[in-house]
Amino acid sequence: MVGRMVKENEDIKEYVKERYSAVAKRTEAASGASCCDTSASASCCGPTSKAEYAQRIGYDLRELSELPDTAIGASAGCGNPTALAGLKEGEVVLDLGSGGGIDVFLAAKKVGPTGKAIGVDMTQEMIDLAMKNAEEVGFQNVEFRKGDIEDLPVEDETVDVIISNCVINLAPDKDRVFSEAYRVLRPGGRIMVSDIVTDGGLPEEVRNNPDAWAACVAGALDEKVYMEKIRNAGFKDVRVIAKRSGGRIYSAEFEAHKPK
Ligand SMILES: C[S@@+](CC[C@H](N)C(=O)[O-])C[C@H]1O[C@@H](n2cnc3c(N)ncnc32)[C@H](O)[C@@H]1O
Repeated sequence: MVGRMVKENEDIKEYVKERYSAVAKRTEAASGASCCDTSASASCCGPTSKAEYAQRIGYDLRELSELPDTAIGASAGCGNPTALAGLKEGEVVLDLGSGGGIDVFLAAKKVGPTGKAIGVDMTQEMIDLAMKNAEEVGFQNVEFRKGDIEDLPVEDETVDVIISNCVINLAPDKDRVFSEAYRVLRPGGRIMVSDIVTDGGLPEEVRNNPDAWAACVAGALDEKVYMEKIRNAGFKDVRVIAKRSGGRIYSAEFEAHKPK
């Protein structure tokens, strides 16, 4: 049974990887399928231009104007975690599922040259795109690492703030994601994640649909269950900071702290 679950989880990841590899490849041609252009009513985004979409999920167009088009074009988030994370100069920030790098770049600007922003993504094509974007912006304080957010390629207690934007729902084992986040955070560190959650459970046929997984729907958990998983990893003061869109499937921003 456990073996079957592991296999199913790996199948989900392979499918998600394929999907986001295609998004990365197509981004330079200004197209791409992601959490943001599924026609499913459950999606966090509707059909709209990337700029409109970015504004709608909380980005400031001015802060985006300094980033490469391909960083904005690959953006597939459902919030703006760096806006709410209260980032300070000198902090080390880790972005779980960094995609084309949009939030890593915004975080890097906020923490300045004495700080650092690290992005982790399991899709090689996204890492390649993010590194190309980093070269274009010329930031020295960013780094992208290929890896799984369920098994972070990051040392224990080396990070001040973890951000993530519409990614944890895509991970089959969310308990591992939160326990890994806890491991790499310094005591007193915090997480600020935007994600898709639900009010209640989803039907079995949706949960088993790979397209719905890749579109950030099938893997979304009930908001209370999601918060419980954050608490179970050891985090304190877990709270919802903001919610977007109504209905049973929506995006929300969560904050939590690792005790000192
Ligand atoms: C919806 S996109 C969001 C990207 C980025 N956070 C943003 O806001 O544009 C999801 C990203 O998460 C990555 N991803 C999904 N599951 C992952 C996992 N288990 N480990 C690492 N990266 C993952 C995908 O490769 C993809 O780049």
